[in-house]
Amino acid sequence: MKILLIGSGGREHALAWAIAGSPLTEALVIAPGSAAMASLGRCVDVGAEDIDGLLALADDMGPDLVVVGPEAPLVAGLVDRLTAAGHAAFGPTAAAAQLEGSKAFAREACARFGIPQPGFTVCRDLDSATAAIAAAGGSCVVKADGLAAGKGVVVANDADEARAAAAEMLDGRFGESGRTLLIEERIAGPEASLFALIDGTDALFMGSAQDHKRAFDGDRGPNTGGMGAVSPAPRLTEDLQTQVMDDIVTPLARGMAAEGTPYRGILYVGLMLTNTGPQVIEFNCRLGDPEAQVILPRLRSDLVAAMLGTIEGSLGHLSLRWDDSAAVTVVMATKGYPGAYEKGSVISGTEVAAGDDVILFHAGTTIDADGTLRAAGGRVLAVTGLGVDVTAARSAAYAAVDAIDWPKGFCRRDIAAT
Ligand code: AMP
Ligand code: GLY
Repeated sequence: MKILLIGSGGREHALAWAIAGSPLTEALVIAPGSAAMASLGRCVDVGAEDIDGLLALADDMGPDLVVVGPEAPLVAGLVDRLTAAGHAAFGPTAAAAQLEGSKAFAREACARFGIPQPGFTVCRDLDSATAAIAAAGGSCVVKADGLAAGKGVVVANDADEARAAAAEMLDGRFGESGRTLLIEERIAGPEASLFALIDGTDALFMGSAQDHKRAFDGDRGPNTGGMGAVSPAPRLTEDLQTQVMDDIVTPLARGMAAEGTPYRGILYVGLMLTNTGPQVIEFNCRLGDPEAQVILPRLRSDLVAAMLGTIEGSLGHLSLRWDDSAAVTVVMATKGYPGAYEKGSVISGTEVAAGDDVILFHAGTTIDADGTLRAAGGRVLAVTGLGVDVTAARSAAYAAVDAIDWPKGFCRRDIAAT
């Protein structure tokens, strides 16, 4: 098969690695891809958000399968456009991707389908937000409705903090994303993420992970896209996993289909494991980054076959096999991230770091003509270690991190430590 993959980050490097390893793959084209991905497929310089450009590329190459990595083109309707043009595309339609694109849409859908989640109120002005904050007892969670690159959530300790956050969002700090707000009941418990393939009706468990969102050790510092992850999610027991599939994923798949917006693709379910059971924190309509870097290396079944089954609606006949081992990924980022940072610093030692129990995924690097590797982004490398258990996987990942010489980089030292 000829496969077109859209995206350029660490998640897409992991997808490219898994797709290139499939016996079904004859040719892989990546748009835009990256220098590090060029060993896995042919990279074409069309950006992941250039919908018209991607459509022209698909028409030109005639792929048997298009795989969309990031959320922005999904929410913008890339899969709708590709499907209309006759291409088989993996990922939800714009209507179904609203589960990530609009937190109000997601909460209202869960409420209709009886899916466990915190109480919430949708607000469009400060008066209604103030009333909802008071009704929640002051301490609550304020969220911008739309995509805000992980920054549109404020967990507020009291009414003043919540009201200030609401005012700032309504003022346009996140543009249109924040014109609609959610005021949510603040729930507590460990977090975990569960992934599922959904083919419109049937759902299949597609791994679990726990990520580390804060920049610094001890969960301190600003929120980031994710500084590391571990799979399987340590707190998500098999019983809880079954409960999430039965009480959250299946009712969602059935409900979306019944309402005429069937979900096809991979669903990322962000969960809080409360005293009364798992509740939905958020949905994403794609694999996570860096969660993909720990989930895909543990998948023993063929990813391409699973994606085709998702598009064709045949997941009911499929099962996935997983490695019993654990995976831990440590993200190496440029000093300054998630704030301002310098680009172009030299990274060496990556050849030494690679090994049987280590996979080096590149999230933001360039390679000079003479082979020099340089940092070209905030999150730069995701170093995945594999092992019989979390401790072994963690040691493998950090041994590789320690072999990498990059004075301008930093990472957390406590990924998967507890
Ligand atoms: P989100 O972007 O929706 O995943 O939210 C970011 C983080 O805010 C989550 O990982 C949780 O730690 C926290 N959070 C979101 N919603 C709630 C809630 N209703 N109660 C408590 N914490 C929450
Ligand atoms: N690591 C969080 C995400 O991909 O949304």
